[in-house]
Amino acid sequence: MSFDLVLFGGTGDLTWRKLMPALFQAFRHGKLPAGGRVLAVARDERSDEMYRGFIRERFAEVESAKRPSEEEFARFAEHLHYMRMDLSRPEHYATLKHWLEQRGADTVVLFLATSPHLFPQICTQLGAAGLNGANVRVVLEKPLGHDLASAREINRVVAASFHERQALRIDHYLGKTAVQNLSALRFGNALFEPLWRRESISNIQITIAEALGVGTRGDFYDRTGALRDMVQNHALQLLTMIAMEPPATNDADAIRDEKLKVLRSLKPFARESVARDVVRGQYRTGTVDGQPAPGYLEEVRVPADSRTETFVALRTEVQNWRWAGVPFYLRTGKRLAARDAHIVVNFRPVPHPIFPGAHQANKLVIKLQPEDGLELHLLALKGTGTSDLLSSVSLDLDFDKAFPSQRVGAYERLLLDALAGRLNLFVRSDEQEQAWTWVEPILKSWADDEQAPRPYAAGSWGPPAASALVARDGFVWSEEA
Ligand code: BG6
Repeated sequence: MSFDLVLFGGTGDLTWRKLMPALFQAFRHGKLPAGGRVLAVARDERSDEMYRGFIRERFAEVESAKRPSEEEFARFAEHLHYMRMDLSRPEHYATLKHWLEQRGADTVVLFLATSPHLFPQICTQLGAAGLNGANVRVVLEKPLGHDLASAREINRVVAASFHERQALRIDHYLGKTAVQNLSALRFGNALFEPLWRRESISNIQITIAEALGVGTRGDFYDRTGALRDMVQNHALQLLTMIAMEPPATNDADAIRDEKLKVLRSLKPFARESVARDVVRGQYRTGTVDGQPAPGYLEEVRVPADSRTETFVALRTEVQNWRWAGVPFYLRTGKRLAARDAHIVVNFRPVPHPIFPGAHQANKLVIKLQPEDGLELHLLALKGTGTSDLLSSVSLDLDFDKAFPSQRVGAYERLLLDALAGRLNLFVRSDEQEQAWTWVEPILKSWADDEQAPRPYAAGSWGPPAASALVARDGFVWSEEA
């Protein structure tokens, strides 16, 4: 299959931090289809050679195991090309079209790695130039909108030029192997399905914790906040993967129909439930990994009186027969105690305990990062012969050890899927709009709220109110257990 991959925003952060390293890994693993060209598009004048030099320098910032040798880079660089484009000028799209048509590749993937405010302009111009034929796909990176209205507007403009199956919305969490394994765990094994319901499960906790602060992205982050940055997309996508019904097939629309149903079943928020069930926080100075860390308000390009949340914890329910009454807790934040993303499925305790002592219940921990694995916590007797007291033991599965060779990173997987036209891991417009519909009452309620986000020390697990939210139902977060 021959392909042309066009990277709009070809000199930007996303391109050199994520896309080029991912493409290089795919190339190194021999997974990049032969006969491919990668065309970077940006505003300034450069030759192909200059662009290749620019990317080679950028690779110095990539972790060493993923850095190409001189010889590897030389072979990889043969695929890289550069074109100057002013994205407002129709004649530049005509030049792009001509460049693409000269070869007529089987597949053309247009990756919009630009600021999202340019998406409407680029999509309209692509459509007007006829760069939207059946072999063309357009890939859109988040943030896709700031609220429901702006997300709908982007979708409307994209739909005017591209069919839904040509528009691939990235949520890079879906590209993580651990997240795909969630689907394999549930629908490739008979073991868990009978237990995957309210009768056996007491609560589910989804945590996406980051140790880093907002870094140099203060201005972007301050306009965004944790709810838009992480909950509307990544955390809700994880929730849909946990809660969805088994799809009829492993096809994109069968999967996305089921995910959409979950989003539609989420308990809607109202002003009172936002006050009760959503905690927002903002980090203050503290210590992360033994090093002093500044507070959010001291970060570069963050206004000193900012009320943007850097932490969210919330409680919701999926209102259907399978999950009625089971709390789902979501939690995410910057400058927390560790970089740690995991999902805990807490099972109910045995109905009639016959062993002495306090009874812990079983739990399944799905680890997304930094490790990628599963832990099933069981209760067992130590066998010392002196006591019938049960102890907790866990069955650990480390996917990196179980499958050591060539595990594929999130962007590598998503780029390869975009080239192959596999849509399973991309978000459909109705899912995305439904997710915005659900978070919108929270945004509105915060906008009118006198109270500022609750402070928490950098390096902690967030404000104490997040623990109280879970404790109210008689539960604790996994690290408190
Ligand atoms: C991005 C957010 O979508 O995800 C960032 O914009 C966040 O703020 C990042 O740091 C987290 O991704 P990962 O893969 O490092 O967990």
